[in-house]
Amino acid sequence: MKKQVTKSKLQNLLKEKVLDFKYLDPGYPNSNWVWHIKTQRGKYILKIIGYFKKYKKGCFWKGLNYLFGWNPIKELTYQESLSTLLNKLGKMRLPKILKYDVSNSLFGAPYMLVEKINGKTVSEEDFNLNDNLNYQFGYYIGRIHTKKYSCFGNVSQSQKYKINEFPQRFADTLIELANHNWGKDTIIMKLMSQYINRAKDIIAPKQFAPIMLDIGAPQFLINNNQIAALIDFDSYVIGPIDLEISAIELGLKKGGLFKKGYIDANGSFPAISNNRNIYRFFLYLLYKAPWKLEDCLNAPLLFN
Ligand SMILES: Nc1ncnc2c1ncn2[C@@H]1O[C@H](COP(=O)(O)OP(=O)(O)O)[C@@H](O)[C@H]1O
Ligand SMILES: [Mg+2]
Repeated sequence: MKKQVTKSKLQNLLKEKVLDFKYLDPGYPNSNWVWHIKTQRGKYILKIIGYFKKYKKGCFWKGLNYLFGWNPIKELTYQESLSTLLNKLGKMRLPKILKYDVSNSLFGAPYMLVEKINGKTVSEEDFNLNDNLNYQFGYYIGRIHTKKYSCFGNVSQSQKYKINEFPQRFADTLIELANHNWGKDTIIMKLMSQYINRAKDIIAPKQFAPIMLDIGAPQFLINNNQIAALIDFDSYVIGPIDLEISAIELGLKKGGLFKKGYIDANGSFPAISNNRNIYRFFLYLLYKAPWKLEDCLNAPLLFN
């Protein structure tokens, strides 16, 4: 995919003289290829989207597809409306989407061209060590959770399901991920039947809002000690807010100011103790990260 990006294609796309373009290596396996482009008139980011072809195989996108009806073409087509919604609700800057194409014609995969926002990529450390950022993160999530939905599904709601269907869909997603992606893992296989039974019997979550299950520091930019923008938001779905808070709890080391920011923005903070354990099991299957299951299940409880 990298070889497909050439100066002349970029010039045709932008209709501007390209001065420089470079591939941004994130240093970890990622699903998109990101390019910085500098022209005479400005700076842009080109994201070539890799998960279109493999979203039915990898755990994360497949899990979103099974549980929420997330679908790459529908989501990419809805990104502009989503960014307007998140901006309005969350008072958050998001990059302007300048062009996108769901076909493979230009770069061999779908792409999105967006404005480049100034700022530094946030590290997990920044969100833990910097109280201000920890608070702003909570404030943003709290604002987003003020918007209530009566169905869950994808963000455009072109796929939606009744709230009482959540436990069964959740159990089915666990089964699918476990059998097809974790079939060789003896620890997961041993625990599966117990978790599947518990998944079917969970009390259907009550509050549904836009949630992002890979939300965390690296998806934001910071500038002058402030969150400057949310730059990566393609995994948003409409889902239970306690699931997102459980995911955030796994990614943070300190939660006090996050919680304060959330409550300042929202008025209350969701109780997550009922479903935390099974959500952690689900998130472990979803992330397929190189951690131990027990470390994930026993991670510190920040939001009690
Ligand atoms: N609009 C943007 N403005 C500035 N930098 C960006 C922008 N979009 C992406 N980046 C840079 O590219 C990195 C990866 O982008 P991201 O959208 O998170 O890709 P991935 O899907 O690989 O997570 C970001 O951490 C940031 O450094
Ligand atoms: Mg990202």
